[in-house]
Amino acid sequence: MLTSSVQNLLLSSRQYTPSIKRKYRINSLEEYESKWKESVENPEAFWSKEAKKHMSWAKDFHTVFSQGKSSFEWFLGGELNLSYNCLDRHLERKSEKIALIWEDEKGNSKKFTFSELHKEVCQMASVLKSFYLKPKDVVTIYLSTSPELVISMLACARIGVVHNVVFAGFSPESLGARIKASSSKLVITSDGFYRREKFIPLKATVDEAFQKYSLKSSVLVFDRKAEKISLKTGRDFLVSDFPSMKLEDESLDFFSSEHPLFLMYTSGSTGVPKGLLHTSAGYLLGALLTSYYLFNLTDEDLFWCTADIGWITGHSYIVYGPLSLGTSIFLYEGGLQTPDPGRLWRLIEKYKITKLHTAPTAIRLCRQAGDKWVKKYDLSSLELLGSVGESINQKTWEWYFDVVGGGQCPILDTWWQTETGSTMLSAFPGLAPFKPGCASRPFFGVLPKVVGSSGHPLLNTKGSLILEHPVPSMARTIYQDHARYEKEYWPEGFLNYKTGDAALQDEDGEIWIHGRTDDVINVSGHRLSTMEIESFLSANELIAEASCVSIEDSLTGQALCCFVILRESTCEKNAEGIKSLISNYISSSLGSFAKPKKIFLLKSLPKTRSGKILRRTLRTLAEGKKPEGDLSTLEDATIFESIL
Ligand code: PRX
Repeated sequence: MLTSSVQNLLLSSRQYTPSIKRKYRINSLEEYESKWKESVENPEAFWSKEAKKHMSWAKDFHTVFSQGKSSFEWFLGGELNLSYNCLDRHLERKSEKIALIWEDEKGNSKKFTFSELHKEVCQMASVLKSFYLKPKDVVTIYLSTSPELVISMLACARIGVVHNVVFAGFSPESLGARIKASSSKLVITSDGFYRREKFIPLKATVDEAFQKYSLKSSVLVFDRKAEKISLKTGRDFLVSDFPSMKLEDESLDFFSSEHPLFLMYTSGSTGVPKGLLHTSAGYLLGALLTSYYLFNLTDEDLFWCTADIGWITGHSYIVYGPLSLGTSIFLYEGGLQTPDPGRLWRLIEKYKITKLHTAPTAIRLCRQAGDKWVKKYDLSSLELLGSVGESINQKTWEWYFDVVGGGQCPILDTWWQTETGSTMLSAFPGLAPFKPGCASRPFFGVLPKVVGSSGHPLLNTKGSLILEHPVPSMARTIYQDHARYEKEYWPEGFLNYKTGDAALQDEDGEIWIHGRTDDVINVSGHRLSTMEIESFLSANELIAEASCVSIEDSLTGQALCCFVILRESTCEKNAEGIKSLISNYISSSLGSFAKPKKIFLLKSLPKTRSGKILRRTLRTLAEGKKPEGDLSTLEDATIFESIL
């Protein structure tokens, strides 16, 4: 573990300050500190002022924050419509401005002005109404990162229906579990799309999920003419079969600030994925304000966040944040390295993207492909770069800064979670010099602390990261499991939100993230629960018992390593064949991003006498080393000899 003084020493030879000085909404440390201080000393006044300034309300709120024994609420009495905030309110000034540009892997593209996007969303809202959906009903959306997905989300928000977007890389198993757990009345999908030159058949996956889970919801399909669709009479409907309505017929309802907006299923420290529920006003305010003060989005920007919309980053920084500010967004559907590693840079040159937000895994992949791919293209339109979802190490950060940004763009390393809804810690673009790999400072209204096991604050020492107060964009509950929500995140009541991350605060007060403290691992920014994978493995008839750990990976940050004990009846001779069966089983159960990097077939697991698996020894084994340290609690201390 590096202390911050060592870190600073390492960095001291270079000052990471962009060579072009631009004006941002926050331009000096004094400005930041004074606003941050004001925001945490009187949070209600701060949030109230910002909510009134930036959002359109049909009815003003009368109470900014209220906290009960088991819940908290923001902006009580207020009424608004999020689709109105992202579209209608821009029509007067920006109806002909580009809202969205999309390109797919094959190079097909589409553009929508705010007026066109508004029309599409209203049409889709009227289609949804034909399904007799009531406000608060849940609709699962299983679509690629496409205009159809943005339109479906905003159509749901328009009529007060809760969207539950499921990442298009998920298997029938994971999709079915999420449709069922969310009690979705409707599933929206399409025939499919191409990713890395392979057709991903979304509708066929939905059909399989319905069969596996005996689901009864209706299915609404966008026919993108990529593949023939088979429709089940009475259950499946084509969007194109619904008559177009006249826009004058569109009525608009407004919903309370705490009206549920969306569910997002994510992995936790237990085997069961949790559906985090976000509500309307507070969530929008978080996504909007961080887009405003951190990314400094303006009318001149074309913002590209490369995340999949199926994850929280896509919700906040493709859809709700930028569109609520009336900023143009760029969407790309497909593999970032397809057909060659220049794709990402070619798109920036072609569309003159001004701000790019991406994940460290994508940056590492590009760096691995070589500078020549970046240097081939004119990236002079770029003004600002973002990084999200995982730690970015110094070398990768420097490459992003020097080669991609040409030394002219600030890099925002943004730290947050599905649970927090919007960025909680980040570098601010106007506060250079930057510290590579440092999540830096709290956003306004956020009060982070790094604490030791007894809750005492730590400086320059690794501890647990907590956030002292609820902020508006935080999830309000875990769908149908409020007890788990309170226990996992707020064990002390609504004080000290437990992030599950370890961190270190340096003497400048800046925060360095040091990974998870629980059994959640982060593969290319995808959150996986080792317990969830273990429970899938144990359900396989070949497997008696399994344990999973994470190992470091130069490309994906972390990778999955599984230790498996086969059932006696399983033929152990064809070990490689069995390993590949297990690997395919995990990919098809969870999605290909969960494919393990290493699988070990064992006779037994290293357990203590009380039956607890000594995970740290598995981590060492996964790295090909012999576990050391105190092994006295092991039931069988000779076990490692046979494994190695
Ligand atoms: O461990 C942290 C890591 O990703 C977790 C949240 O994952 P998820 O809910 O899927 O949201 C990802 C998009 C925000 C966190 O608990 N993480 C997120 N951002 C960073 C990070 N780790 C290091 N540095 C970051 N900037």
